[in-house]
Amino acid sequence: MKIANFLKECDFSPEEWLELIDLAAQLKAERASGTETQRLTGKAIALIFEKTSTRTRTAFEIAAFQQGAYTTYLDPVSSQLGHKESVADTARVLCRTYDGIEFRGASHDDIETLAEYSDVPVFNGLTDDWHPTQMLADALTIREHVNKPFTEVAHAYLGDARFNTGRSLLVSSAMLGMDVRIVAPKEYQPDTEAIEIAQAMAEKTGARITITDDVAEGVRGADVISTDVWVSMGEPKEVWAERIEALRPYQVNAEVMEATGNPDVIFMHCLPAFHDLNTSIGRDIFEMTGMNGLEVTDDVFESEASVVFDQAENRMHTIKAVLVAALADD
Ligand code: CP
Ligand code: NVA
Repeated sequence: MKIANFLKECDFSPEEWLELIDLAAQLKAERASGTETQRLTGKAIALIFEKTSTRTRTAFEIAAFQQGAYTTYLDPVSSQLGHKESVADTARVLCRTYDGIEFRGASHDDIETLAEYSDVPVFNGLTDDWHPTQMLADALTIREHVNKPFTEVAHAYLGDARFNTGRSLLVSSAMLGMDVRIVAPKEYQPDTEAIEIAQAMAEKTGARITITDDVAEGVRGADVISTDVWVSMGEPKEVWAERIEALRPYQVNAEVMEATGNPDVIFMHCLPAFHDLNTSIGRDIFEMTGMNGLEVTDDVFESEASVVFDQAENRMHTIKAVLVAALADD
């Protein structure tokens, strides 16, 4: 398959979305069996990170490396982007030198501008609105761990559903025909735009969409429980108090896993996660609230049900699929 850009889920048809997941599974199998062939030899990819990253940056770098491509990492401090040079000018400069451009930043409009002004494919490594590479990794992980076709999988997401991960999860799950439940207090539920996109996808795939603030109803019969941090990158630390108050009942803990009634339910999280006191933010919040796990408790995070590190590994295989689909010569 050939893709022009990778900006958000709904730019693709459900069939194309599945094709990318299949390609990732194929590339992962090739890597495991020692039969991977390099399809991107001699290509160069610019990686622009306005926000911090562990998984996305390393996944892009190593996926490119394993496929024979070269990468350059650009952050706002060591490049001119933002303070001295516009997104449009940066796009027109980088596309003269690079075969592809990855962008992680706050504004989704910025990545759309980058794609508009760039002659080479642009890849979304996360914006405030969408996190589409994460969704391919999540789908591959579900395929590996839930012994059902996507159309029979019940996927419940608990927590802040207004941000990138929650919105993307709603749309991607609808594209895969799942029974998707967004479980969040009303003020943290997805916006109308995201819901309408998901509903349009559901009409094509037969997905069932539930948006509810009722945890018991939302998680009943779920095969997958997902969550994300309660305060996202770029938000001020002052919002922690209100966020904890609103989202505490939506914490993924043993009771929530039990309430699914499904002994085979798996737990997923895009990471990073606040599940113990081994981070400075985790310790600050503990001082403030006495909570030693936030969106997920440590016992669930460390349980047999948790597939979060397989999910993290799959970022590399799925990002590799995106790079191959966009940049490999025919
Ligand atoms: N899940 C994810 O995008 O992780 P990073 O922020 O570490 O890239
Ligand atoms: N919602 C989170 C996702 C991190 C991968 C954030 O934007 O910080």
